[in-house]
Amino acid sequence: MEIQTIGIVGAGQMGNGIAHVMALAGYDVLMTDVSADALKGAVDTITGNLDRQVGRGKVAEADRDAALARITTTQTLSDLGQSDLIIEAATERETVKQAIFEDLIPHLKPTTILTSNTSSISITRLASRTDRPEKFMGFHFMNPVPVMQLVELIRGIATDKETFSACQAVVAKLGKTAASAEDFPAFIVNRILMPMINEAVYTLYEGVVSVESIDSSLKLGANHPMGPLELADFIGLDTCLAIMNVLHDGLADTKYRPCPLLTKYVEAGWLGRKTQRGFYDYRGDVPVPTR
Ligand code: CAA
Repeated sequence: MEIQTIGIVGAGQMGNGIAHVMALAGYDVLMTDVSADALKGAVDTITGNLDRQVGRGKVAEADRDAALARITTTQTLSDLGQSDLIIEAATERETVKQAIFEDLIPHLKPTTILTSNTSSISITRLASRTDRPEKFMGFHFMNPVPVMQLVELIRGIATDKETFSACQAVVAKLGKTAASAEDFPAFIVNRILMPMINEAVYTLYEGVVSVESIDSSLKLGANHPMGPLELADFIGLDTCLAIMNVLHDGLADTKYRPCPLLTKYVEAGWLGRKTQRGFYDYRGDVPVPTR
């Protein structure tokens, strides 16, 4: 199964990172979003990140230009129909993802592989509502996509071998490493990472220690590149909460209960860096803890 054209649904943080690495690896990329501003913002972000890579000698100027020339944007979802592989990277809400797949299906080639960059939703359930569960799987990147080496590949119960091998070949061409996970809530990285972040929020909620101390302790005491609260702001607190809810509902174990303080931040619309406020306030020159 030869893959050359990649369709990406969603031009947010993950979508633009995926477009960046795919175009740099030589794939033709068609990126769609309902918002023209989001598409423009994504191209600006990709250009900025590629420029930085050129500046640091990681990418040649000619490769940057070729990568940018391989990216096309469209607000019309059906334009993605002729892609060989589609990666859905829209909002982490099952109803949104389902609606996207329903709208896409009438326009797809019979051979198109459909994947989702979901960080936690059941691949088997998403697949069962499409016309091609055997050609459906999870293709989960880590943030920031251009930097992080891992991609989780998740087979639904019906995913066939050819589909899995084709996705494995794409990951290899990206120069990244694939980890293959069974389809259980939150797969590998988030199953382990999110309870740690949630525990950090409980540690704050219970008044054990301050925001800054939690982060500096994990950086200095466990050699993490970012503290858990800083990382939560980076990922998005809405995404962290959504993943904890998937773990809580899907595994029915109280150890996954989301911290009420995490819920409170999300209710306030303080979702982290993307809204300029989360466990830190990013509106000034340096981030300032919000508690
Ligand atoms: N695009 C391209 N390059 C980027 C980038 C981006 N968006 N962000 C950072 N970089 C590059 C920088 O240019 C720099 O490159 P060089 O090594 O060539 O100089 C390198 O990454 C390091 O960046 P910085 O020096 O600016 O900053 P840093 O050393 O503090 O590293 C970081 C930044 C890589 C983000 C690091 O802090 C880190 O690894 N943090 C943890 C990230 C993490 O855990 N991600 C997983 C989140 S979980 C997830 O994604 C799953 C999910 O479903 C929620």
